[in-house]
Amino acid sequence: MTVQIDHALEEIRRFRPSPEFAANAVADAGLAEAAQADRLGFWADQSRELLQWEKPFTKTLDWSNPPFAKWFEDGELNVAVNCLDRHVEAGNGDRVALHWVGEPGDTRDITYAELTDEVKRAANVLTELGVGSGDRVAIYLPMIPEAVVSMLAVARIGAIHSVVFGGFSADSLASRIDDAEASLVITADGGYRKGKVFPLKPVVDEAIGKSVAGSVKNVLVVRRGENEVAWNDRDLWWHDTVGAASNEHEAESFEAEHPLFILYTSGTTGKPKGILHTSGGYLTQAAFTHKNVFDLHPETDVYWCTADIGWITGHSYVVYGPLANGATQVLYEGTPDTPHPGRWWEIIEKYRVSIFYTAPTAIRSFMKAGRHIPQAFNLRSLRLLGSVGEPINPEAWIWYRHVIGGGSIPVVDTWWQTETGAIMISALPGITDLKPGSAQVAIPGVSIDILSDDGTPVEGVDGGLLVVTEPWPSMLRGIWGDPERFKETYWEKFGDKYFAGDGARRDEDGDIWLLGRVDDVMNVSGHRLSTAEIESSLVAHPWTAEAAVVGAADETTGQAVVAFVILKASQAERVTDLAAASDELRKHVATQIGAIARPRQVFIVNELPKTRSGKIMRRLLRDLAEGRDIGDTTTLADTSIMQTISDQVK
Ligand code: PRX
Repeated sequence: MTVQIDHALEEIRRFRPSPEFAANAVADAGLAEAAQADRLGFWADQSRELLQWEKPFTKTLDWSNPPFAKWFEDGELNVAVNCLDRHVEAGNGDRVALHWVGEPGDTRDITYAELTDEVKRAANVLTELGVGSGDRVAIYLPMIPEAVVSMLAVARIGAIHSVVFGGFSADSLASRIDDAEASLVITADGGYRKGKVFPLKPVVDEAIGKSVAGSVKNVLVVRRGENEVAWNDRDLWWHDTVGAASNEHEAESFEAEHPLFILYTSGTTGKPKGILHTSGGYLTQAAFTHKNVFDLHPETDVYWCTADIGWITGHSYVVYGPLANGATQVLYEGTPDTPHPGRWWEIIEKYRVSIFYTAPTAIRSFMKAGRHIPQAFNLRSLRLLGSVGEPINPEAWIWYRHVIGGGSIPVVDTWWQTETGAIMISALPGITDLKPGSAQVAIPGVSIDILSDDGTPVEGVDGGLLVVTEPWPSMLRGIWGDPERFKETYWEKFGDKYFAGDGARRDEDGDIWLLGRVDDVMNVSGHRLSTAEIESSLVAHPWTAEAAVVGAADETTGQAVVAFVILKASQAERVTDLAAASDELRKHVATQIGAIARPRQVFIVNELPKTRSGKIMRRLLRDLAEGRDIGDTTTLADTSIMQTISDQVK
């Protein structure tokens, strides 16, 4: 009871920035004032200050054809030059860009000069392989320096990367290769995870075998896992090609709206969406937020974002934001608990990490394991902590600040999405009074509102739908190959206001609290999964007649995938061991989509709750999966069904 009261008290507590922190903070109140006075002028100033434009822009925003925005459209730049060459030219070539740590314990420190060199070599190889401006390159790599090099080399020659998370299956990779018609895949033989080598190249081979587009001409393979791999005519070793290439490469500049990357994310239908980002606006906001939200002092800070490059957080806050700002950062290949549960804290101690950015799901699992684990390490180099991916419960916020942060340093909770490209809502350290559990305020230059379903602003603490009311520099420019889906998904609901898919409310201080997704998108360990995608995968199994998937609250992962499956009549008789059958179905989803999509539970049932029009009422299944009393069942075609299902589930 006491504990609960403590938490309740802390929840409403504000944490003032310390005077020392505020005195040296990068951000100041002038930012918000400038943005308020002239939003477009503010972004133009930021872009000129933060980036090197080869041809200066004269126009800031063209919003004459919403929702298709053009930012800084008559300007030209090279994104890779902004992340590399210019730091070397400014005399910072000897600064470490990456402190890389491999899971088995091998390490590499790579300076800006070395990284620039390597990217130039890789760019030459890509060009030799016939990859040109606008061509798509799929990247399927572990967290090794070559992943960063690959992304920047692709950007340097004006090609478009599509990074696919290394945990995705051959099927998922194949559909992403096909959708973008990638001509090159960059992969590794394997990478390290949980003390073992997981193969990647064999998955690429399988994916290319399954590809229907037939677009892949070459596969470039980094040697990492030393696992045995089959070899085809189209395959090339990275060390043979990049290793031997010239390090002279003249970078061309590209228009601000030149496509930079496609990143696939789950939507409400079964097919992932290829979110398209472009160059100048994206890099402006990635760099601006990285500098101001994380209070970056590039000469002295050591920054670490634990996200994989396969997700948007890895794109914006491992690659583009930090490197554009000339930061020194840690890049770690493996899992947090290998070979011991204190691995992350050991890395922070060793490299004297000062800024640390991770996800609530990780924080909650550390809480579970106990504070004695981080307390065995010296974490006093830390001076700022960040959180991303899902709402952080006040209890986890407090634990993070106290146990990891030593009790006095700022914790910033950052809300954003694959589609927004960069942070949209966050406290600014040194300025904002921090409030555990709330993402707090729109960053300067971003306009957020909360609307009711009919589009009227929701005042007070009643929840509504989160929208972005004005275009922002790093906004998605579309869905690859599907402009209609782009309009329909994000813009149909509120006209020229962007519908984010999240519920939110504002408290009496005007701080924003995120309430989770309002659509059929789940958030498992901070990763987006679509109920429809997992249902399609389950139905693709020969045993399954019908499936319904819900995201059920889970203490560690935020939400967990829970599936309800009806077996085909022909199978139902043969399947006697329900536990084994449900295990088989869980495995099937992991193989088809990837381990992150593996359901926590698969319940085999005889019926699913449906309305008279045949729509599955997932809300009732969620009640069941979360162990709550079943809500209103009056709209069901057969009101007794939930009783039958809940008896079966028990
Ligand atoms: O529901 C929101 C949640 O994650 C979704 C975006 O997922 P994704 O595109 O994979 O990007 C994750 C990393 C930026 C959002 O629609 N989300 C993200 N950050 C937060 C959050 N929910 C609450 N608080 C956050 N800080």
